[in-house]
Amino acid sequence: MTISYTSERAWWKEPLERTELVWIVIAFIWCLVLFFMMPYWHIYGQQNLANEAYRAKPEDFARKTEEMIAKYKVREDGGDLKVPVVRPPAGSDVYLIGRLWAWWPILELEKGKSYRLHLTAMDYQHGFSLQPENINIQVHPGYDHAVTMTPTQKGSFAIICNEYCGVNHHTMISRIYVK
Ligand code: CUA
Repeated sequence: MTISYTSERAWWKEPLERTELVWIVIAFIWCLVLFFMMPYWHIYGQQNLANEAYRAKPEDFARKTEEMIAKYKVREDGGDLKVPVVRPPAGSDVYLIGRLWAWWPILELEKGKSYRLHLTAMDYQHGFSLQPENINIQVHPGYDHAVTMTPTQKGSFAIICNEYCGVNHHTMISRIYVK
C-alpha cells in the first residue's frame, strides 16, 4: 500500500472558500454575544443568585444560630414543634439551619431591609426553597451558604425542602415572615 500526499489532499493548504469564511465569522460573533450575555444577564436579568459558600463547622454555625435566637426571639410558632420566631435587626447576619426534618428557627424580617442570610445543613444535604418566590439554594453540611436578601413584599413565605432527605422529607417545611 502506498500513501501519497497530493496538493488536493493537503486540505489545510487550500484557500478558504468564501461561504465557509462567512459562517466561521458568524459563528464566532455569536459565540462572543453568548459569552458577554452571561455577565450581562447575571447583573441585569435578576434571575441568578449571587450566593457564596464557605466552609463552616456545624457546631460553630449552631452556636451562632442559638446566640441569635437567645437575643432576638419574640415568640414560638410551628405548633407542637415549638420553633422559635426571631426578629433580628435589619442589616444583621441571620442564620437558618436545615436538619432532619425541620428548619430552625423561623425568621421574621422587615420589608425593604437587607439581611445577610446564612444557611447550613446539620446532617445531610437539604434543599432550601423559598416559595412562591422560587429561590432555591442547595444546603450542605460543613458549608455556610450566604446570600444577601432584601424582602420586597410583606407576608408569610413558605420554605420547603426540595432535596429528598428521608421518610419525613415532605414534612420539612417552615416559613419566613415579612412585616
Ligand atoms: Cu430536607 Cu428534604
